[in-house]
Amino acid sequence: MRTIICDLPRREFEGLGIESDALFAREDLLAARDCCGCFACWVRTPGTCVFRDELQRLPEVLARTDELWVVARNAFGGYSPLVKRALDRAIGYLHPNFRIVNNEMHHRLRYGNRVALRAWLYGPSTESERESFERIARANALNMGQDFVGTWFPETAAGVGREESAAAVPARSVALAPRTAPKRIALVNASPKGPRSATAHLLADLAEAFGAYAQLAGVTAPELVSVGCPSAAPSVSEKAVQALAGCDAAVLGYPLYVDALPAGLVELLERAQGELAPGTRVYTLANLGFYEPEQILPSFAVVESFCRAAGVCWMGGVALGGGGMILPCAHMPRMGMMRRRVSEAVDELVGALLTGGELGTVLSKPPLPRFAYKLAAERQWRTQAQKAGVKL
Ligand SMILES: Cc1cc2nc3c(=O)[nH]c(=O)nc-3n(C[C@H](O)[C@H](O)[C@H](O)COP(=O)(O)O)c2cc1C
Repeated sequence: MRTIICDLPRREFEGLGIESDALFAREDLLAARDCCGCFACWVRTPGTCVFRDELQRLPEVLARTDELWVVARNAFGGYSPLVKRALDRAIGYLHPNFRIVNNEMHHRLRYGNRVALRAWLYGPSTESERESFERIARANALNMGQDFVGTWFPETAAGVGREESAAAVPARSVALAPRTAPKRIALVNASPKGPRSATAHLLADLAEAFGAYAQLAGVTAPELVSVGCPSAAPSVSEKAVQALAGCDAAVLGYPLYVDALPAGLVELLERAQGELAPGTRVYTLANLGFYEPEQILPSFAVVESFCRAAGVCWMGGVALGGGGMILPCAHMPRMGMMRRRVSEAVDELVGALLTGGELGTVLSKPPLPRFAYKLAAERQWRTQAQKAGVKL
Protein backbone atom coordinates (compact mmCIF):
# COMPACT_ATOMS: atom_id res chain seq x y z
CA MET A 1 0.00 0.00 0.00
CA ARG A 2 1.33 3.45 -0.96
CA THR A 3 0.60 6.34 1.42
CA ILE A 4 1.38 9.93 0.43
CA ILE A 5 1.64 12.94 2.73
CA CYS A 6 1.76 16.04 0.64
CA ASP A 7 1.22 19.80 1.06
CA LEU A 8 -0.09 20.30 -2.50
CA PRO A 9 -3.82 20.74 -3.06
CA ARG A 10 -5.47 17.40 -3.81
CA ARG A 11 -6.35 18.32 -7.40
CA GLU A 12 -2.86 19.56 -8.18
CA PHE A 13 -1.33 16.37 -6.80
CA GLU A 14 -3.78 14.18 -8.64
CA GLY A 15 -2.88 16.08 -11.81
CA LEU A 16 0.66 14.69 -11.53
CA GLY A 17 -0.74 11.25 -12.35
CA ILE A 18 0.85 9.58 -9.32
CA GLU A 19 -1.04 6.62 -7.90
CA SER A 20 -1.69 6.30 -4.19
CA ASP A 21 -3.78 4.18 -1.86
CA ALA A 22 -4.04 6.82 0.85
CA LEU A 23 -3.45 10.52 0.22
CA PHE A 24 -3.18 13.19 2.90
CA ALA A 25 -3.26 16.39 0.84
CA ARG A 26 -3.17 20.10 1.66
CA GLU A 27 -6.88 20.34 2.48
CA ASP A 28 -6.61 17.49 5.03
CA LEU A 29 -3.54 19.00 6.64
CA LEU A 30 -5.02 22.51 6.77
CA ALA A 31 -8.12 21.21 8.54
CA ALA A 32 -6.07 19.33 11.15
CA ARG A 33 -4.40 20.53 14.32
CA ASP A 34 -0.75 20.53 15.34
CA CYS A 35 0.32 17.91 17.88
CA CYS A 36 -0.06 19.37 21.39
CA GLY A 37 2.57 17.10 22.93
CA CYS A 38 0.17 15.37 25.38
CA PHE A 39 1.36 11.80 24.58
CA ALA A 40 -2.22 10.48 24.88
CA CYS A 41 -1.48 8.47 21.71
CA TRP A 42 1.06 6.56 23.81
CA VAL A 43 -0.43 6.30 27.28
CA ARG A 44 -4.20 6.91 27.12
CA THR A 45 -5.43 5.72 23.72
CA PRO A 46 -2.37 3.85 22.36
CA GLY A 47 -1.94 4.34 18.63
CA THR A 48 -4.73 6.92 18.32
CA CYS A 49 -4.54 10.70 18.70
CA VAL A 50 -7.19 12.44 20.79
CA PHE A 51 -7.82 15.10 18.12
CA ARG A 52 -10.70 14.03 15.89
CA ASP A 53 -9.59 15.26 12.51
CA GLU A 54 -8.24 13.78 9.30
CA LEU A 55 -4.83 13.07 10.86
CA GLN A 56 -6.31 10.96 13.64
CA ARG A 57 -6.17 7.90 11.40
CA LEU A 58 -2.59 8.51 10.21
CA PRO A 59 -0.79 6.04 12.57
CA GLU A 60 -3.29 3.32 11.72
CA VAL A 61 -2.84 4.02 7.98
CA LEU A 62 0.95 3.89 8.42
CA ALA A 63 0.57 0.49 10.06
CA ARG A 64 -0.83 -0.82 6.75
CA THR A 65 1.66 1.04 4.54
CA ASP A 66 4.67 -0.43 2.80
CA GLU A 67 5.61 2.63 0.71
CA LEU A 68 5.54 6.13 2.21
CA TRP A 69 6.04 9.20 0.03
CA VAL A 70 6.48 12.55 1.70
CA VAL A 71 6.16 15.62 -0.52
CA ALA A 72 6.91 19.02 1.00
CA ARG A 73 7.79 22.54 0.01
CA ASN A 74 11.31 23.42 1.13
CA ALA A 75 11.33 25.26 4.45
CA PHE A 76 15.02 26.04 5.15
CA GLY A 77 16.06 22.45 4.48
CA GLY A 78 13.19 20.95 6.46
CA TYR A 79 9.58 19.98 5.80
CA SER A 80 6.96 22.71 5.25
CA PRO A 81 4.83 23.46 8.35
CA LEU A 82 1.83 21.53 7.00
CA VAL A 83 3.75 18.34 6.24
CA LYS A 84 5.54 18.67 9.59
CA ARG A 85 2.14 18.87 11.25
CA ALA A 86 1.30 15.45 9.80
CA LEU A 87 4.64 13.90 10.77
CA ASP A 88 4.33 15.21 14.34
CA ARG A 89 0.85 13.70 14.52
CA ALA A 90 2.21 10.31 13.40
CA ILE A 91 4.05 9.39 16.62
CA GLY A 92 1.23 7.07 17.73
CA TYR A 93 2.72 4.73 15.11
CA LEU A 94 5.59 4.21 17.57
CA HIS A 95 5.62 2.54 20.97
CA PRO A 96 6.76 4.81 23.86
CA ASN A 97 9.38 2.34 25.06
CA PHE A 98 12.89 2.43 23.67
CA ARG A 99 15.30 0.32 21.65
CA ILE A 100 18.96 0.96 20.88
CA VAL A 101 19.88 1.16 17.18
CA ASN A 102 23.36 2.14 15.94
CA ASN A 103 24.23 2.83 19.57
CA GLU A 104 21.49 5.49 19.75
CA MET A 105 18.20 5.55 21.57
CA HIS A 106 15.06 5.23 19.43
CA HIS A 107 11.49 4.11 19.99
CA ARG A 108 10.23 0.59 19.76
CA LEU A 109 7.88 -0.07 16.87
CA ARG A 110 4.21 -0.73 17.61
CA TYR A 111 3.54 -2.52 14.32
CA GLY A 112 5.47 -5.10 12.34
CA ASN A 113 5.16 -3.66 8.82
CA ARG A 114 8.20 -2.61 6.79
CA VAL A 115 7.97 0.81 5.12
CA ALA A 116 10.13 2.22 2.31
CA LEU A 117 10.51 6.02 2.65
CA ARG A 118 10.91 8.39 -0.31
CA ALA A 119 10.87 12.17 0.15
CA TRP A 120 10.65 15.09 -2.25
CA LEU A 121 11.47 18.64 -1.16
CA TYR A 122 10.28 20.89 -3.96
CA GLY A 123 11.18 24.52 -4.63
CA PRO A 124 14.64 26.08 -4.82
CA SER A 125 17.08 24.71 -2.23
CA THR A 126 20.74 25.28 -1.43
CA GLU A 127 23.35 22.55 -1.07
CA SER A 128 23.35 22.86 2.73
CA GLU A 129 19.53 22.72 2.84
CA ARG A 130 19.67 19.49 0.85
CA GLU A 131 22.24 18.07 3.24
CA SER A 132 20.17 18.88 6.30
CA PHE A 133 17.00 17.54 4.70
CA GLU A 134 18.68 14.26 3.89
CA ARG A 135 19.94 14.00 7.48
CA ILE A 136 16.41 14.61 8.79
CA ALA A 137 14.78 12.15 6.39
CA ARG A 138 17.37 9.48 7.24
CA ALA A 139 16.82 10.11 10.95
CA ASN A 140 13.05 9.83 10.43
CA ALA A 141 13.50 6.51 8.64
CA LEU A 142 15.68 5.18 11.46
CA ASN A 143 13.29 6.38 14.14
CA MET A 144 10.20 5.02 12.44
CA GLY A 145 11.91 1.73 11.53
CA GLN A 146 11.64 2.53 7.81
CA ASP A 147 13.94 1.75 4.89
CA PHE A 148 15.32 5.02 3.53
CA VAL A 149 15.19 5.02 -0.28
CA GLY A 150 16.10 8.61 -1.15
CA THR A 151 15.42 12.36 -1.18
CA TRP A 152 14.96 14.44 -4.32
CA PHE A 153 14.85 18.19 -4.91
CA PRO A 154 12.80 19.22 -7.95
CA GLU A 155 12.62 22.91 -8.79
CA THR A 156 8.83 22.90 -8.72
CA ALA A 157 6.06 20.57 -7.62
CA ALA A 158 5.73 19.40 -11.24
CA GLY A 159 8.90 17.32 -10.74
CA VAL A 160 7.52 15.37 -7.77
CA GLY A 161 7.53 11.60 -8.31
CA ARG A 162 10.65 11.59 -10.49
CA GLU A 163 13.79 10.36 -8.81
CA GLU A 164 15.89 13.33 -9.94
CA SER A 165 16.90 16.74 -8.59
CA ALA A 166 17.35 20.19 -10.12
CA ALA A 167 20.60 22.11 -9.63
CA ALA A 168 21.00 23.62 -6.15
CA VAL A 169 20.77 27.40 -5.80
CA PRO A 170 23.60 29.40 -4.17
CA ALA A 171 23.23 30.20 -0.46
CA ARG A 172 23.05 33.81 0.65
CA SER A 173 26.02 34.87 2.74
CA VAL A 174 25.40 36.85 5.89
CA ALA A 175 28.11 38.95 7.49
CA LEU A 176 28.23 38.75 11.26
CA ALA A 177 27.12 42.09 12.69
CA PRO A 178 29.75 43.89 14.81
CA ARG A 179 29.88 42.39 18.30
CA THR A 180 27.65 44.40 20.60
CA ALA A 181 25.61 43.38 23.60
CA PRO A 182 21.93 43.06 22.60
CA LYS A 183 19.36 45.42 24.10
CA ARG A 184 16.20 43.33 23.67
CA ILE A 185 16.20 39.57 23.56
CA ALA A 186 13.21 37.48 22.52
CA LEU A 187 12.83 34.23 24.45
CA VAL A 188 10.70 32.07 22.19
CA ASN A 189 8.93 29.11 23.76
CA ALA A 190 8.10 26.90 20.79
CA SER A 191 6.97 23.92 22.83
CA PRO A 192 3.35 23.04 22.05
CA LYS A 193 3.04 22.35 25.80
CA GLY A 194 3.57 26.07 26.45
CA PRO A 195 4.04 26.96 30.13
CA ARG A 196 3.96 23.27 31.22
CA SER A 197 6.98 22.37 29.13
CA ALA A 198 10.64 21.67 29.86
CA THR A 199 11.35 24.50 27.41
CA ALA A 200 9.40 26.96 29.60
CA HIS A 201 11.42 25.89 32.63
CA LEU A 202 14.72 26.25 30.74
CA LEU A 203 13.84 29.72 29.49
CA ALA A 204 12.77 30.83 32.99
CA ASP A 205 16.05 29.48 34.37
CA LEU A 206 17.96 31.33 31.65
CA ALA A 207 16.15 34.58 32.48
CA GLU A 208 16.97 34.21 36.16
CA ALA A 209 20.62 33.39 35.51
CA PHE A 210 20.76 36.32 33.13
CA GLY A 211 19.79 38.84 35.80
CA ALA A 212 22.31 37.39 38.25
CA TYR A 213 25.20 37.38 35.75
CA ALA A 214 24.44 40.91 34.52
CA GLN A 215 24.51 42.15 38.11
CA LEU A 216 27.82 40.38 38.77
CA ALA A 217 29.33 41.88 35.63
CA GLY A 218 27.97 45.32 36.53
CA VAL A 219 26.17 45.70 33.18
CA THR A 220 22.57 46.68 32.52
CA ALA A 221 20.63 43.50 31.80
CA PRO A 222 18.94 43.62 28.39
CA GLU A 223 15.18 43.49 28.26
CA LEU A 224 13.84 39.94 27.90
CA VAL A 225 10.66 39.53 25.87
CA SER A 226 8.71 36.26 26.22
CA VAL A 227 7.31 35.08 22.92
CA GLY A 228 4.79 32.25 22.77
CA CYS A 229 4.57 30.10 19.68
CA PRO A 230 0.93 29.08 19.47
CA SER A 231 0.35 25.66 18.01
CA ALA A 232 -2.96 24.08 17.06
CA ALA A 233 -3.89 27.36 15.38
CA PRO A 234 -4.14 27.57 11.62
CA SER A 235 -1.44 30.21 11.66
CA VAL A 236 1.09 31.62 14.06
CA SER A 237 -0.13 34.86 15.57
CA GLU A 238 1.04 38.17 14.25
CA LYS A 239 1.88 39.13 17.84
CA ALA A 240 4.68 36.57 18.03
CA VAL A 241 6.19 37.76 14.75
CA GLN A 242 6.04 41.40 15.84
CA ALA A 243 7.63 40.62 19.20
CA LEU A 244 10.50 38.87 17.42
CA ALA A 245 10.87 41.71 14.96
CA GLY A 246 11.36 44.23 17.78
CA CYS A 247 14.38 42.39 19.24
CA ASP A 248 18.06 42.38 18.31
CA ALA A 249 18.64 38.82 19.58
CA ALA A 250 16.45 35.74 19.93
CA VAL A 251 16.66 32.43 21.74
CA LEU A 252 14.55 29.78 20.03
CA GLY A 253 13.56 27.31 22.74
CA TYR A 254 12.04 24.09 21.42
CA PRO A 255 11.64 20.34 21.91
CA LEU A 256 12.82 18.09 19.10
CA TYR A 257 9.77 16.73 17.28
CA VAL A 258 10.31 13.87 14.82
CA ASP A 259 14.00 14.74 14.44
CA ALA A 260 13.26 18.35 13.53
CA LEU A 261 11.59 21.60 14.61
CA PRO A 262 7.97 21.35 15.81
CA ALA A 263 5.49 22.40 13.08
CA GLY A 264 4.53 25.65 14.86
CA LEU A 265 8.13 26.84 14.98
CA VAL A 266 8.66 26.21 11.26
CA GLU A 267 5.59 28.33 10.62
CA LEU A 268 6.82 31.09 12.92
CA LEU A 269 10.20 31.17 11.14
CA GLU A 270 8.55 31.34 7.73
CA ARG A 271 6.41 34.27 8.84
CA ALA A 272 9.27 36.04 10.58
CA GLN A 273 11.63 35.68 7.62
CA GLY A 274 11.15 39.12 6.10
CA GLU A 275 10.45 40.86 9.40
CA LEU A 276 13.61 40.47 11.46
CA ALA A 277 16.11 43.32 11.67
CA PRO A 278 19.30 42.54 9.70
CA GLY A 279 22.02 41.40 12.08
CA THR A 280 19.62 39.94 14.67
CA ARG A 281 21.53 37.27 16.60
CA VAL A 282 19.78 33.90 16.78
CA TYR A 283 20.56 31.19 19.36
CA THR A 284 18.77 27.91 20.08
CA LEU A 285 17.97 26.09 23.33
CA ALA A 286 16.64 22.65 22.41
CA ASN A 287 15.90 19.46 24.30
CA LEU A 288 14.82 15.98 23.26
CA GLY A 289 13.35 12.85 24.81
CA PHE A 290 16.20 10.55 23.79
CA TYR A 291 19.54 10.36 25.55
CA GLU A 292 21.92 11.65 22.87
CA PRO A 293 21.94 15.43 22.35
CA GLU A 294 23.63 14.89 18.95
CA GLN A 295 20.23 13.85 17.55
CA ILE A 296 19.21 17.54 17.78
CA LEU A 297 21.94 18.76 15.42
CA PRO A 298 20.12 18.41 12.05
CA SER A 299 17.49 20.81 13.43
CA PHE A 300 20.23 23.37 14.16
CA ALA A 301 21.20 23.14 10.48
CA VAL A 302 17.62 24.15 9.60
CA VAL A 303 17.81 27.18 11.91
CA GLU A 304 21.15 28.10 10.35
CA SER A 305 19.60 27.97 6.87
CA PHE A 306 16.70 30.10 8.14
CA CYS A 307 19.24 32.68 9.36
CA ARG A 308 20.90 32.80 5.94
CA ALA A 309 17.57 33.17 4.18
CA ALA A 310 16.43 35.89 6.60
CA GLY A 311 19.74 37.78 6.59
CA VAL A 312 20.23 37.34 10.33
CA CYS A 313 23.13 35.82 12.28
CA TRP A 314 23.26 32.21 13.44
CA MET A 315 25.18 32.22 16.73
CA GLY A 316 24.90 28.57 17.80
CA GLY A 317 22.84 26.55 20.22
CA VAL A 318 22.52 24.35 23.27
CA ALA A 319 21.35 20.74 22.71
CA LEU A 320 20.15 18.93 25.82
CA GLY A 321 19.79 15.14 25.92
CA GLY A 322 17.41 13.40 28.31
CA GLY A 323 14.68 16.05 28.22
CA GLY A 324 12.41 13.73 30.21
CA MET A 325 14.47 14.57 33.31
CA ILE A 326 14.28 18.35 33.06
CA LEU A 327 10.91 18.93 34.74
CA PRO A 328 11.20 16.15 37.37
CA CYS A 329 14.56 17.66 38.45
CA ALA A 330 13.43 21.30 38.28
CA HIS A 331 12.99 21.60 42.07
CA MET A 332 16.49 20.27 42.80
CA PRO A 333 19.52 22.50 43.46
CA ARG A 334 20.67 24.26 40.28
CA MET A 335 24.27 23.11 40.65
CA GLY A 336 23.39 19.78 42.29
CA MET A 337 24.34 16.50 40.59
CA MET A 338 21.07 16.12 38.67
CA ARG A 339 20.90 19.65 37.21
CA ARG A 340 24.47 20.78 36.98
CA ARG A 341 25.14 19.82 33.33
CA VAL A 342 22.01 21.55 32.08
CA SER A 343 22.70 24.63 34.24
CA GLU A 344 26.25 24.89 32.93
CA ALA A 345 25.03 24.66 29.35
CA VAL A 346 22.41 27.36 30.01
CA ASP A 347 25.12 29.52 31.61
CA GLU A 348 27.28 29.24 28.49
CA LEU A 349 24.32 30.53 26.52
CA VAL A 350 23.86 33.40 29.00
CA GLY A 351 27.53 34.34 28.59
CA ALA A 352 27.26 34.42 24.80
CA LEU A 353 24.02 36.40 24.93
CA LEU A 354 25.35 39.02 27.33
CA THR A 355 28.32 39.79 25.11
CA GLY A 356 26.66 39.20 21.74
CA GLY A 357 29.24 36.47 21.13
CA GLU A 358 29.19 33.23 19.18
CA LEU A 359 28.16 30.17 21.17
CA GLY A 360 29.04 27.31 18.83
CA THR A 361 27.38 23.97 19.65
CA VAL A 362 26.99 23.03 23.31
CA LEU A 363 26.00 19.38 23.85
CA SER A 364 24.79 18.21 27.23
CA LYS A 365 24.26 14.55 28.16
CA PRO A 366 22.06 13.49 31.09
CA PRO A 367 23.85 12.83 34.40
CA LEU A 368 22.82 9.15 34.37
CA PRO A 369 24.06 6.23 32.28
CA ARG A 370 21.81 5.53 29.32
CA PHE A 371 20.38 2.29 30.68
CA ALA A 372 19.25 4.08 33.86
CA TYR A 373 17.63 6.92 31.88
CA LYS A 374 15.87 4.37 29.67
CA LEU A 375 14.55 2.43 32.68
CA ALA A 376 13.34 5.61 34.41
CA ALA A 377 11.64 6.93 31.27
CA GLU A 378 9.92 3.60 30.56
CA ARG A 379 8.73 3.45 34.17
CA GLN A 380 7.22 6.91 33.74
CA TRP A 381 5.29 5.78 30.63
CA ARG A 382 4.07 2.68 32.47
CA THR A 383 2.86 4.70 35.45
CA GLN A 384 0.99 7.16 33.24
CA ALA A 385 -0.61 4.32 31.28
CA GLN A 386 -1.64 2.53 34.48
CA LYS A 387 -3.30 5.72 35.74
CA ALA A 388 -5.33 5.79 32.53
CA GLY A 389 -6.19 2.10 32.95
CA VAL A 390 -4.20 1.16 29.85
CA LYS A 391 -1.66 -1.65 29.36
CA LEU A 392 1.18 -0.43 27.14
C1 LIG B 1 5.25 14.75 18.31
C2 LIG B 1 6.49 14.48 19.11
C3 LIG B 1 7.64 14.11 18.45
C4 LIG B 1 8.80 13.88 19.18
N1 LIG B 1 9.93 13.51 18.50
C5 LIG B 1 11.07 13.27 19.18
C6 LIG B 1 12.26 12.88 18.50
O1 LIG B 1 12.30 12.77 17.28
N2 LIG B 1 13.35 12.61 19.25
C7 LIG B 1 13.36 12.72 20.61
O2 LIG B 1 14.37 12.46 21.23
N3 LIG B 1 12.25 13.13 21.28
C8 LIG B 1 11.12 13.40 20.60
N4 LIG B 1 10.00 13.81 21.26
C9 LIG B 1 10.07 14.01 22.73
C10 LIG B 1 10.29 15.47 23.12
O3 LIG B 1 11.38 16.03 22.45
C11 LIG B 1 10.53 15.51 24.63
O4 LIG B 1 9.42 14.99 25.28
C12 LIG B 1 10.86 16.89 25.14
O5 LIG B 1 11.45 16.76 26.43
C13 LIG B 1 9.63 17.78 25.27
O6 LIG B 1 10.06 19.06 25.65
P1 LIG B 1 9.03 20.21 26.07
O7 LIG B 1 8.47 19.80 27.42
O8 LIG B 1 9.86 21.44 26.15
O9 LIG B 1 7.97 20.28 25.05
C14 LIG B 1 8.83 14.03 20.58
C15 LIG B 1 7.64 14.39 21.25
C16 LIG B 1 6.49 14.61 20.52
C17 LIG B 1 5.23 15.00 21.25
